Amino acid sequence: MKVLVTAASKHGGTGEIADWIGETLTENGIDAEVRLPEDVSTLEGYDAVVLGSGVYVGKWLASATHLVERLGREFRDRPTFLFSSGPAGDPPKPDTDPVDAVKIREATGAEDHIVFAGRIARDRMGFGERAVITALRVPDGDFRPRADVETWARHIAERLTASPAASAAAR
Ligand SMILES: Cc1cc2nc3c(=O)[nH]c(=O)nc-3n(C[C@H](O)[C@H](O)[C@H](O)COP(=O)(O)O)c2cc1C
Repeated sequence: MKVLVTAASKHGGTGEIADWIGETLTENGIDAEVRLPEDVSTLEGYDAVVLGSGVYVGKWLASATHLVERLGREFRDRPTFLFSSGPAGDPPKPDTDPVDAVKIREATGAEDHIVFAGRIARDRMGFGERAVITALRVPDGDFRPRADVETWARHIAERLTASPAASAAAR
């Protein structure tokens, strides 16, 4: 069972979430490979995909949406799991879905889309981004829920390693 984990990240927070997912899948008996979306030219050779992105002004980053545009049909041929990383604060805001993932779910045939809180690191941002974050009163900090990410990845591993009959019933 070989699984691709690929995520678009501007400031590294979502990239690290992809690494945590890859590590958890590996610990649970999956051959997981973590790659940048722009480095993925085919899904050939992967039995399933975990795809994610940081959310910027209500949208996924371009490298993730471009990957879906390029390889939509290949996603639909294998189990696909989506995640977004964005909301910040305690409790994280926005508390509604920060991204309209309906189109991405349709294009990929994904089984799941989960939203994780993100990381706001002003020291990594340029002037424009800092201005947006300040205007929206988004607090600095790392709000990424590592334990929840790992639990989600364990569920994916369980789903993928379940007996063929069980996974057919789950579809
Ligand atoms: C300019 C800017 C706009 C953002 N817009 C959103 C947004 O619309 N919704 C949201 O939930 N998070 C938003 N965020 C928060 C980021 O998604 C969050 O910090 C995420 O963890 C960044 O991931 P990255 O480090 O992988 O780039 C925004 C952050 C910045 C700097």
